[in-house]
Amino acid sequence: MTELIETVTQTGICRIILNRPEKKNALTSAMYDRLDMLMRAADVDDTVRVVQIESSGADFCAGNDIADFLAQSRQDAAAIEQPTEEPAGLRFLDTLIGFGKPIVAAVGGVAIGIGTTMLLHCDIVVASEDAVFGLPFVKLGLVPEAASSLLLPRLMGYQRAAELLLLGDTFNASTAYELRLVNRVVPVDELGAMAGDFATRLAARPPEALRLSRQLLRGDLAEVRSAKSREAAIFLQRLSSSEAAASLNAFLSRSRPG
Ligand code: COA
Repeated sequence: MTELIETVTQTGICRIILNRPEKKNALTSAMYDRLDMLMRAADVDDTVRVVQIESSGADFCAGNDIADFLAQSRQDAAAIEQPTEEPAGLRFLDTLIGFGKPIVAAVGGVAIGIGTTMLLHCDIVVASEDAVFGLPFVKLGLVPEAASSLLLPRLMGYQRAAELLLLGDTFNASTAYELRLVNRVVPVDELGAMAGDFATRLAARPPEALRLSRQLLRGDLAEVRSAKSREAAIFLQRLSSSEAAASLNAFLSRSRPG
């Protein structure tokens, strides 16, 4: 059976491949669960030196699956505020934040919502010239996620982060490069090779020095986790708001507001 998240490990590089191209790799709860499981396995597997996140098809990831969001928004509000189990997406983010090895991302086509915010937790991001990024949370009646309200201003300055997060307009690969979200922008047919080259070179570095250096670079994770939790509490409440229900339904019924 074809998995919606595929994985291949070779020569120290664990490639994690988002594989739902017909839905532009929008992530469902089941996909987050598998991503989480694969990342945790890669973290403790001594044969894995580097993780490379990529996608099959032309697009990286169109964000959280909107139908999944809507299903959550229909839940009883009390259950959303005090869920018995942390939603799969949040568990995946915890794993991503605490991940101990370098992560390379290869981003082509759309990278929307978590398709963009997950990049803030990667070490090297290679984008192809056709990549389109976006943080449409406010447009959807939601709020930022994945500690982006902390990490985005830190990366590009408050005003640029506020523009991206409050307006939610899409931006192209050269803007993403200018905003320091990506390391390289390459022609579409060079994306895999460039990301693979970064992963190969990282995998050849002494792993313990790499791990410790990365830990130093990433700094205080408690602050990042706390931003992620602060956002998540509001995000989960917002999912049951009338603003969110209207925009999520509009997407699914294809009467999308501009
Ligand atoms: N959740 C569920 N399905 C999604 C999706 C998502 N986030 N993004 C795309 N899809 C599905 C579409 O419904 C469509 O499915 P269908 O062929 O069965 O109708 C398919 O993927 C192709 O998407 P489509 O919208 O037709 O492609 P497009 O090129 O016109 O637009 C996007 C691409 C990314 C601009 C558009 O799909 C979009 O806005 N997606 C939602 C992005 C989003 O808001 N994500 C949540 C962030 S928090």
